[in-house]
Amino acid sequence: MYTQSSLLVALASLASLGASQKCKLQFDGRVPTGFAAAEFDADNGIFNPSNVVGKGLKLSEVIKMGVVNGSLFDTKTQPVEVTINDQSIFAPSATNVQTGFRRAELLIASNNGTDASTQGVKTLHFSLMKDAARPLNLTHEYQLDNSFSTNQFVLKTGTILGGDAAADPDTLQLFGNVNSKPLQTLFSTKFTEGVFHNFAVTNDFNKKTTQVFYSQDTAVLKEQTKALANDNSGQGQFHFGVLKKGLGGGSDITKEGIQESGINEGIVYGGIFMEDSSTGCVSLSP
Ligand SMILES: *[C@@H]1O[C@H](CO)[C@@H](O)[C@H](O)[C@H]1NC(C)=O
Ligand SMILES: *[C@@H]1O[C@H](CO)[C@@H](O)[C@H](O)[C@H]1NC(C)=O
Ligand SMILES: *[C@@H]1O[C@H](CO)[C@@H](O)[C@H](O)[C@H]1NC(C)=O
Repeated sequence: MYTQSSLLVALASLASLGASQKCKLQFDGRVPTGFAAAEFDADNGIFNPSNVVGKGLKLSEVIKMGVVNGSLFDTKTQPVEVTINDQSIFAPSATNVQTGFRRAELLIASNNGTDASTQGVKTLHFSLMKDAARPLNLTHEYQLDNSFSTNQFVLKTGTILGGDAAADPDTLQLFGNVNSKPLQTLFSTKFTEGVFHNFAVTNDFNKKTTQVFYSQDTAVLKEQTKALANDNSGQGQFHFGVLKKGLGGGSDITKEGIQESGINEGIVYGGIFMEDSSTGCVSLSP
């Protein structure tokens, strides 16, 4: 039974959830209209210009602009598509050439791995859409949005390695910490084409919980889960892009596994930003 004071508290927290976007920002990865692909290659204050992209490639060569209109939170900004091709072999060092993957991902400029985006209570917003002209190959597993270093949560699609072989690969699956046993599916939904899938993921890094909000296109975000126990400790960097895993890899999937050639695949991202939710503030609409 509600007492009057607890009802007031409940109403107050609903008000802060439902309010238009006024939460304090931790970072803003929304790309201004007019921003050109070439600007991704130099320090730009939005994304890291050097990572993550295949050796010998520049980000401007794998970023496509103007493919679709803005997502829910792109009121004055534009979405960007992240694509992979046969050259998308990331080599962070001479001895770590990741031939098992094809990958390209955007990293937030200020998110150096130990910054405040992985401390306190923070809500990560992002929207993503398929590009019908650059379809993924759902025989493979893809990581779309993930947090380095240990994948404290990760959005995947395609045929998950070691996963349920009968599952529909055309699904967006948000998993909790990949080292947890059993692996926790926080949220999943059909990866319908032609619509933006909008996510907001609130991480309480003190209580080690993750809560998921979701909607499509211009619909207001809706709470999909309560704050679920999830080990999101350890800090790291948020990646937004496409990481395609090889097939039949051995113990080191970063270097092993079959990748067919001639690929041209991509995912459109929009509305990437993070807000401070330490006061309970989560923007459900712009
Ligand atoms: C973008 O929006 C404009 C104006 O509403 C519309 O004419 C156009 O078809 C849209 N483009 C795409 C790719 O949806
Ligand atoms: C990472 O960013 C934080 C916040 O700006 C800063 O205090 C810290 O020194 C940075 N760490 C490194 C290794 O650059
Ligand atoms: C999808 O990937 C599999 C395994 O790499 C490959 O055999 C198949 O030809 C690919 N399909 C397309 C349409 O590229």
